[in-house]
This record gives sequence, structure tokens and C-alpha cells, in this order.
Amino acid sequence: MLSVVPTPLTVRAPAKVNLHLGVGDVRPDGFHELVTVFQALSLHDDVTLTPADELSLHVTGEGVRDVPTDPTNLAARAVVALAERYDRDPAMRIDIVKGIPVAGGMAGGSADAAAALLGAATLWGLEVTRDDLDEVAATLGSDVPFSLHGHTALGTGRGERLIPALARGEFHWTLALAREGLSTPAVYRELDRLREAGAPPRAGSPDELLAAVASGDPHRLAPLLANDLQAAALSLQPGLRRTLRAGMEAGALAGIVSGSGPTCAFLCASADDAVDVGTELAGAGVCRTVRVASGPVPGATVVP
Ligand code: C5P
Repeated sequence: MLSVVPTPLTVRAPAKVNLHLGVGDVRPDGFHELVTVFQALSLHDDVTLTPADELSLHVTGEGVRDVPTDPTNLAARAVVALAERYDRDPAMRIDIVKGIPVAGGMAGGSADAAAALLGAATLWGLEVTRDDLDEVAATLGSDVPFSLHGHTALGTGRGERLIPALARGEFHWTLALAREGLSTPAVYRELDRLREAGAPPRAGSPDELLAAVASGDPHRLAPLLANDLQAAALSLQPGLRRTLRAGMEAGALAGIVSGSGPTCAFLCASADDAVDVGTELAGAGVCRTVRVASGPVPGATVVP
């Protein structure tokens, strides 16, 4: 009998940048209350699922030496969580091709988890709604629901509660990938430490930024980009200041640390400008490598 689901099945999931990342106080569960605006970018990971006798994981591409290939990998955890909930056998081969920087503040692990969730649900023919998948996604990580949904969205709670945001047109980005990654918990801890020692500025309301995103005007958006984690990321990797400065000197409209970093994201006026900024940054020796990307793009999607 022919199966309607093609196997192997590949799901593509996007990277994200936080256009606004307001970090509130620590909650009793140890997470910080967030108000954030996510945008999904054209940089992506591909996750291919193949039915097999046992669960195994194989990772190739960008920065793979730092990606676990044991059951702690978020894609494997996603398949196991879904299997437990819907009483399935998680035995399958998971192949991940990484295009999103590892430990870079761009939700690479979350993208893999989102792709694995959608892929396994499709492979098993589960009759699940987006809400069902969101619920499992949120147990895996704060950014996993957004990796499923993509586009531009306002996130609250830990970042897992999403409201879609209107975005007109296409925004163009240059990404400066760092030589060393940063641990997300370490960056949040550093922010707590900085806040105990003084008062680094806090991002205000994202209302104006959301209006700028809806207008599609990068010049209007540029001065409104805000990230409360930036001070902490710069404190842990002071060299990022030089990267941010170099991007501005190269003609970017604005530069910001992406999420918990250390990737620096530069908003540019056009696709051509993004390439020019990338060329200058690569030549300046202030990062490991550069990528250009655009957003918003959809969330995890089965590749036809
Ligand atoms: O949810 P996720 O696994 O991505 O979070 C990784 C770590 O980042 C958490 O363990 C926590 O230390 C920190 N975090 C936080 N507040 C959030 C999201 C993440 O403190 N809202």
C-alpha cells in the first residue's frame, strides 16, 4: 500500500531575531517575564525524519561540533515528548542540516525542535491542531512555539505566548556570527547580576516598534530595535562592541545583539545594502563569518 506521507520527510524551520526583547523580573520558576517581538528570518535548519528501528540523530552543517547527538538534543526530545503524549514509537532517524548558528541567540535548537514536532506529527498522521503542537512546543523551550509559527509575533510570558503581528514588506538583515557561542542561562544570569549592581536601561513598550514593523519602513524601525539582554551579552563578550560599531560604519541602519547573542543582527535599507554591509564586516575581521537574510518568513514547514 502506498503511504500518503513521503518518507524521508523534511521540515524546514527558520532562525529568529528579537526586534524587541524586554526582560522583566525573575519568576518563581526561574524564568524571566518577557515582552518580545520575534521575526523569523530566511536562515534555516532542515530536519529530515526517516522511520527506523531505533531513535538516532545525525547533524551536519554550521558549527556542528557543539550540537549534542544524544537524547538531550532538542529535536530528539521533541520526538520523544510527542510519542509519549500520543502513544507512538519514537524510533526514527533524525538528520539535521544546520544553517542557523549554534548557541548564537537565533533559536537554532528551537527551530530543530519545532521541525521535529511538525515532522513527527505529519509522519504519524496525528490529528493535532496547532494549539496541541504549541502545548508540547512550550514544554521544550520558550522559543519553540515561535519557531513553529514564524512570521512576526509578539511574545509574552516566557516568550511562549504568541500574538501574530502585522508586518508589511520585507526587512533585510546582515548577521555577524561570532567565534564562540553564549549560553542563554548564563546571559540571563549576567543580566540579573548587572541589575543587582546598577540599573542598565530597560526597553519600554514595543507599541511604536510594532507600528514601524506594520509600516514596512526599515528607517522607522531601526531606531526602535531594543534588547535588554544586549548589555549582558556585551559584558560576557566585550568584543561584540567592535562588531556592532563596524556594522554601523559599514552602513547598516541599526545593529543589535540577537536574543541572548552573540550573533549581531544589522538591519539594512535594502538587499544590496545587506550584502555590502556583510562584505565590509567580513573584511574587518570582527566576526567568524557573515550571512544575509530577510524576514519575515513562515515557521516550520514541510518541504514538498
Ligand atoms: O526556555 P529555554 O530552554 O529556551 O530557556 C533557556 C534558559 O534561558 C532558561 O533555563 C533560563 O535560564 C533562561 N530564560 C529565562 N527567561 C525566559 C527564557 C529563558 O530566564 N523567559
